[in-house]
Amino acid sequence: MERGLWAWIWPGDPAKADESLLPTEEEIGFSRSADFHAKPFYHHHVNGRYQLLNDNLLDLTHLGYLHGGSIGTADDAATPEQRDQNARRLRSRRIMKNTPPPPVTRERFGIDCPVDRISGMDFFYPGFHAGIGDSQVAEGYPDAGRQLNSSRVWHAVTPATKTTTNYFFAMGSPDREGVEFMVEYLKPVLAEDIFATEQIEKIISTVDDVPPELMLRSDTTAVMGRRVLQAMMDAEAAPPAS
Ligand SMILES: [Fe+2]
Repeated sequence: MERGLWAWIWPGDPAKADESLLPTEEEIGFSRSADFHAKPFYHHHVNGRYQLLNDNLLDLTHLGYLHGGSIGTADDAATPEQRDQNARRLRSRRIMKNTPPPPVTRERFGIDCPVDRISGMDFFYPGFHAGIGDSQVAEGYPDAGRQLNSSRVWHAVTPATKTTTNYFFAMGSPDREGVEFMVEYLKPVLAEDIFATEQIEKIISTVDDVPPELMLRSDTTAVMGRRVLQAMMDAEAAPPAS
């Protein structure tokens, strides 16, 4: 029997459950092909408001700062992002050519030459982030074009309380061994995100009056994501048109 990755649960008014808002398998890079291996990894209860986790996932420069010892490099922070927004999702991509491989790529594939990488995230409003991480050996090096990692990661972020969050994480790739390897490898990586989120929450909760908007980073994508969510909340709070 096939094992699922997610169960979508709508705890509110059934009349307001809109299934069309759910991203499709194709949209998030999930495949039912026998060549594709997908696996639910972890569930965490995070002591920080959901907005902080959304901010983290909408700002992948943090791979350079927070995960430089594992899945990121300085180029994650230095490379400008390409953005694309539509009614369903906000997309961010960083295309890094001829760039140093992150430690995990070096380690897993035993390479020490530059790579071409794509790092990105598609944020499906209001709480699902589908990530992409692809890399291949850069031009001009032995095995140029050899595919290294090719992975999709899925983060579901749902508020538990006003200041805590349920965080679900899963991963998929044609590289079955890679997915299995990452189950353990990514534990301390996610712990870094959770630690950062919880520290920011602690700072916020010591402020008497929380400012209406917390600009912790000047990141355009995170601000765009917040605007969409605010518009959804405003629409929900508005009295129905008569
Ligand atoms: Fe992270």
